[in-house]
Amino acid sequence: MTEVVVVHSAKDPALKKIASDLKKGKLVVFPTETVYGLGANALDEKAVRKIFKAKNRPQDNPLLVHVSSFKMLKPLVKKFPPIAKKLMKHFWPGALTLVFEKTDAVPSAVTAGLPTVGIRFPSHPVARKLIALSGVPLAAPSANTATKPSTSRAEHAFHDLNGKVDWIIDSGATDSGVESTILDITRTPAVLLRPGAVTKERLERCTGKITVPVPSRTTRSKPLAPGMKYRHYSPNAKVWLVSSQKLEQIAQQQSRTQKTAVISYSQKIVFTGKQFRFHSLKKLAQELFHTFRVCDAEKTELILVETVSSNGIGLALQNRLNKAAEKIVK
Ligand code: TXA
Ligand code: MG
Repeated sequence: MTEVVVVHSAKDPALKKIASDLKKGKLVVFPTETVYGLGANALDEKAVRKIFKAKNRPQDNPLLVHVSSFKMLKPLVKKFPPIAKKLMKHFWPGALTLVFEKTDAVPSAVTAGLPTVGIRFPSHPVARKLIALSGVPLAAPSANTATKPSTSRAEHAFHDLNGKVDWIIDSGATDSGVESTILDITRTPAVLLRPGAVTKERLERCTGKITVPVPSRTTRSKPLAPGMKYRHYSPNAKVWLVSSQKLEQIAQQQSRTQKTAVISYSQKIVFTGKQFRFHSLKKLAQELFHTFRVCDAEKTELILVETVSSNGIGLALQNRLNKAAEKIVK
């Protein structure tokens, strides 16, 4: 049985009961400033295994660990290099995940056998309070079925996970709508494993140059973040990425034979399907996964997305869209 509870304040007394259930090994969907997370006590291997089952997630894809204080973090990590201290001071709490060398306190079920652990210190007040009340670090991937778009609203998590988790905390739409940025600081220079809500430009202003690997779709090398090798963020509809110049033409052509929607951020185009238009990349990032799910609910067959630049949040969007898309039209 899944219980849904609406929580708009970190002071809500419901959090106490939910936190005590977390400590007992139950599964809880909770809001963060990026996307909703599917959390369990990271120190309880049995509870951690339930996350993989609920999400249908491959066993070799490690989970991030969410903490609410440095006291909670310290036993999980072997050492804090100077760059870690700088980044933590600058970006925590917030949407930057740092990959550290792990200690034995972190069960290998969490990290899928890796010697490292990704640590996230969320800024969302409900997330922080929930972790603090439970008194344990929470292992939490995004709260969606594997391969599906991440969840920026509690109803998305309900759609994917109803009956598979014990609680869903509904705190409304999340802030950034794309997941955290993941930076591996066990290497020098640090490696950007996943572009995300904290932009590369902001990171480099703090640390100097970081390494940005070529997207795994176009290389044969082993992906650094294990999860990045899987099909991802995909609605049921096909997704094509289309250049601004071709968007109207392709939309007009395709909408003759299949139910087509367009997601764009600049131009208004003329065609017979539905158009979702956002006025900035930030807004598009907030709404992208939600819009994918709206399209699925409407039984859309093809979603055309206007290609985005790699500036700022655009890099994270490009990464998600490249993974979701089956075709790129230049
Ligand atoms: O914003 C976020 O990061 C959200 C919220 C809920 O915190 N979480 C999230 O988790 O996006 P998930 O599991 O959906 O994506 C985490 C990614 C996966 O691709 C995983 O393979 C990678 O991080 N990862 C986890 N631990 C890692 C590690 N030790 N080294 C490298 N990559 C790691
Ligand atoms: Mg995910």
